[in-house]
Amino acid sequence: KIALPINIFGNDRQNSKGLNMADLDVLTPLQSELEKHYARQWQACPIIGGERRGGNAVNVFNPANMSEQIGMVASADEAMIDEAMKVADAASEEWSQTPVEVRAAALYRAANLLETNQAELIAILVREAGKTLNDALGEVREAVDFCRFYANEARRLMGQPIQLPAVTGEDNQLILAGRGVFFCVSPWNFPLAIFLGQITAAIAAGNAVIAKPAGQTSLIAYRSVELLLEAGIPGGVLNYVPGSGSKIGRQVINDPRLDGVVFTGSTEVAQQLFRGLANRDGAILPLIAETGGMNAMIVDSSALPEQVVSDVIMSAFNSAGQRCSALRLLFVQDDVADHTIKLLKGAMAEQQLGNPALIQSDIGPVIDVNAKIELERYIAGLRQTAKEIATAALPADASRGNFVAPVAFEITLDQLPEREVFGPVLHVIRWKAGELQNILAAIHKTGYGLTLGIHSRIDAHIDWIKKNARIGNIYVNRNQIGAVVGTQPFGGEGLSGTGYKAGGPHYLLKFTTERAISVNT
Ligand code: SER
Repeated sequence: KIALPINIFGNDRQNSKGLNMADLDVLTPLQSELEKHYARQWQACPIIGGERRGGNAVNVFNPANMSEQIGMVASADEAMIDEAMKVADAASEEWSQTPVEVRAAALYRAANLLETNQAELIAILVREAGKTLNDALGEVREAVDFCRFYANEARRLMGQPIQLPAVTGEDNQLILAGRGVFFCVSPWNFPLAIFLGQITAAIAAGNAVIAKPAGQTSLIAYRSVELLLEAGIPGGVLNYVPGSGSKIGRQVINDPRLDGVVFTGSTEVAQQLFRGLANRDGAILPLIAETGGMNAMIVDSSALPEQVVSDVIMSAFNSAGQRCSALRLLFVQDDVADHTIKLLKGAMAEQQLGNPALIQSDIGPVIDVNAKIELERYIAGLRQTAKEIATAALPADASRGNFVAPVAFEITLDQLPEREVFGPVLHVIRWKAGELQNILAAIHKTGYGLTLGIHSRIDAHIDWIKKNARIGNIYVNRNQIGAVVGTQPFGGEGLSGTGYKAGGPHYLLKFTTERAISVNT
């Protein structure tokens, strides 16, 4: 049984503070703690109803050094998935009837445990996902924020029924309840924050969860599940099933005990999930999907070039461009284009690629060898058709890991990529005064609508973009990545996703069902 918390909430929730890694007094002890964790091997296996299960295990390697094994992951088989569905189905009813305060308290304890175990989580993120230290820390903070934010949201939305108007002799209420069993399918690029964001939203709203991590990043997901269980989330409520996405997906989607799906990943897989849900027998189920982007930044001649370039570097190349929010298309007005491109070249030459465990590394590897090969093929194709602006330097030992050097090309409007390029590749396009509408039309024509940046000192340009862009997250005179929970609710439209936005005030609604109760008093 979970004890009721006393006064841990309040309305003054604050986002996780993190650490100042620029301060050596902070960095040095952190690094010695990280070293201890780096020396370890991590293991992951399915956890069903709170019980660990064995299975066929595969080795996991460090993407920055593919000869270095960091652990092993055992996959869930068909029988385990079936059992997970059974256990989750059985647990979901009691969990949805558990007072929201109790559910929220468990998530607050989970947030505290994530913070206490921050160094270990950073170490796994660095080793398994190739995250730089700053990216890894940012990710732990985001995961912590999701726990507390959704706990508060559940209390706000589900704490009391909504009392509705009624004629004399009648009482009308609207209540929100958990839907049942949610299938949570998350990506490798935010293997802790998005993995836990989906799970904590579903759990806060009173659902049980079947959590499928990305194949590349099952170790960090496993460790976070352990912490959530330690925090008091009942075993039946949180089931962890690593393994093949297509196999597990097909089985879970067709299981009659399923009540909803939340997915973050490629647009293609989201579409497959939609089709799968449409073709199954039985209830009509919701799919919450957050997918890809073809994100643009528009720079006009009034922008401050130094700020533009710093924000472009951050937006396009941070995390090796492996963010769905990352900048892919940079539209620069022609009269400042040469100068901006010159500064961009200089800034790209300064970028340090390398071992993400070193504080001086700005950019780590891409996630795996397939991603590297696909990106290299795309870049080789662009070299045939577009003008290369600059390529950053690879580290001396690049061949040990999956390193792809950030690269920028100049292209024309008719050469926009057809689909999302998920890596450090920037496309620069010049535009002329009077073409703002054409540019936005071209961006809309991609079908995606995730992030958009604008750099301008002209209010009319900014206002026009704010009013006309059909894009989920618009950033003005700043970088366009790193949405903060509760501050920049995140998610796109069109090919970029269904909404509602993660970390926003409506997200939890999608994980609930509404019931109107009319009583003749
Ligand atoms: N939430 C992440 C970001 O804003 C998604 O990629 O960068």
